[in-house]
Amino acid sequence: VVVLIDATKSPVLVTSALLYVNGPLHLGHIRSTYIPADVYTRYLRLKGVPVVFVSGSDEHGTPTVVTAEQEGLTAKAMVDKYHNLAFKNYQALGLSFDHYSRTSNETNHQTTQELFMILKEKGFVFKQIVKEYYCPTDKKFLPDRYIKGECPYCHAKDQYSDYCENCGKTFKPGDLIGAYCSLDKTTPELKDSEHFMFKLSAFSSALSSYLKNQLDVRDEVRNYVLQWIKEGLRDWDIVRDLDWGVKVPGMKGKVFYVWFDAPIGYIAATKEWAEKNGKKDAWKQFWIKAEAEKKGAKIVHFIGKDIVYHHALFWPALLMGTADYKTPDVLPVRGFVTIQGKKISKSRKYWILVEDYLKRWPPDYVRFYYTLTTPNAPTDGDFDWKDFQEKINTELLGNVGNFVHRVLTFIDSKFAGKVPKVPHGSKAGADEVAIKKKLVKSVKEVDKLYSQIELDRALKAILDLSQSFNQYFQHKAPWRADEKDASITLWHCANFVRSLAILLEPVIPFSAEKIWSYLNLEGSVHDADFDSAKDLPIKADHSIKKPLPLFSKAEDDAIQEEIRKLESLIAPPPKESRHGPER
Ligand code: MSP
Ligand code: ZN
Repeated sequence: VVVLIDATKSPVLVTSALLYVNGPLHLGHIRSTYIPADVYTRYLRLKGVPVVFVSGSDEHGTPTVVTAEQEGLTAKAMVDKYHNLAFKNYQALGLSFDHYSRTSNETNHQTTQELFMILKEKGFVFKQIVKEYYCPTDKKFLPDRYIKGECPYCHAKDQYSDYCENCGKTFKPGDLIGAYCSLDKTTPELKDSEHFMFKLSAFSSALSSYLKNQLDVRDEVRNYVLQWIKEGLRDWDIVRDLDWGVKVPGMKGKVFYVWFDAPIGYIAATKEWAEKNGKKDAWKQFWIKAEAEKKGAKIVHFIGKDIVYHHALFWPALLMGTADYKTPDVLPVRGFVTIQGKKISKSRKYWILVEDYLKRWPPDYVRFYYTLTTPNAPTDGDFDWKDFQEKINTELLGNVGNFVHRVLTFIDSKFAGKVPKVPHGSKAGADEVAIKKKLVKSVKEVDKLYSQIELDRALKAILDLSQSFNQYFQHKAPWRADEKDASITLWHCANFVRSLAILLEPVIPFSAEKIWSYLNLEGSVHDADFDSAKDLPIKADHSIKKPLPLFSKAEDDAIQEEIRKLESLIAPPPKESRHGPER
């Protein structure tokens, strides 16, 4: 990934994929998409880059309608419920959206219809009679997720009829092998319906060159997307026979396919952000090509690996088709997470809900754990409670927490809460020269890694620096040094604590702010200047506040309980329930 930051500090739009609000937010969503986007955004803010971070709820689509039916709710009532829950969870996790939208908002409906009309005018959408799955008993069309069957490409079983979760290919009605209705298992008919198709095939060569020359994405992702293009792109059916969604102009009882209006939700969210901030046209600097070029603005979409097809092909093609809109610049793709080695399952509720996680653990712990263990790559990972415990206890507490707490309590108890003076005439020794050199070098390195969205590597570099601070403190042993030496050490260390707070703010914003307040520094660490992390601006005699321990240990009991809870979800049912109750 290229370095986005330049001296001109051009504006950056960061998005994270829009959440389907047909279920609660879980620890899968936040690993690939929401936490990394927030960490990157916070870093850009510290760098003084005009960054806008938007996302929203993806409220349309057949899965949503089907789930609402199953929950006995209207689609509207269900999306309201999960939208509100997700929003509450985001705030508790410290996700710092500048705007969080909903695809059901009027702005998105209008923008979707507007873009559709532009594409139609340019000849990129055309009418076609398509076969749509139809249930003869219910007498209604059954698009997408009402229908399941076998993938005709990779032969994965139980795939929905719009795309394969296993190989990522998209389908049209009739493609699935052995299609059946997911509600009542009947075999659907294929019936004629008039739809609009988007001419994706017309963009093959434009997309190839976009992928090769423009889109900043990992090579392994680039290569498999190019392979899809080579295999041939098919035109996309963008209409569904459904009434929940964005109405298709001129067609009764039909709405746009959810993947047509969802990415347009990124634009709508940006428009709403601009409106909210009294700069009505400010969205254009990101989305209108001519405006964006003037400012050098960039668009960065954080997504999980399952939705690459939509973001690397369909979405840029749609934007290209309009002629005036700008295509995305960077596509950070992260892999899927399993929980204790097993796939997340909505139906068995084998998952960890963000809401449940937050009942016991601080938001910074999962932000820290995920950032440390999630590379900027489509590789899958695992959320493992033991590993979580180990990383929290050794790295967050044992390394960062230990240094910060030792320094602050030392100043509090031995120097009456005042940062000591470096005695007049005393020169910094070789240890100080070396550690300051390390600081300057590390800040540069961390800066580069953050800017390249190599967030795990950035955090590792910070932890390495923190380790050096610990070693410096240990080596100087101020508890047995004379007052002059102890003063030199603690003055440096107070400043190093400040550096750590700034460097770690993107990852653990709540704890960083606590450190900032213990140091009794002005303002908020969220507004600090990233580059000043290399400086030592805290002066002698500066009073600090009485420090409390920053973190508490992840205890065995709590971890065991979490593991047991998950195991109970995958344990086979007890004998009685399989063979009938004992008499
Ligand atoms: N609504 C679409 C995105 C539309 S963007 C215009 C969607 N929603 S989702 O709720 O299913 O997923 C939201 C994000 O979470 C996506 O980036 C998805 O890849 C990610 N993840 C969902 N489950 C995940 C895991 N188990 N592991 C990692 N990321 C996961 O897709
Ligand atoms: Zn497949």
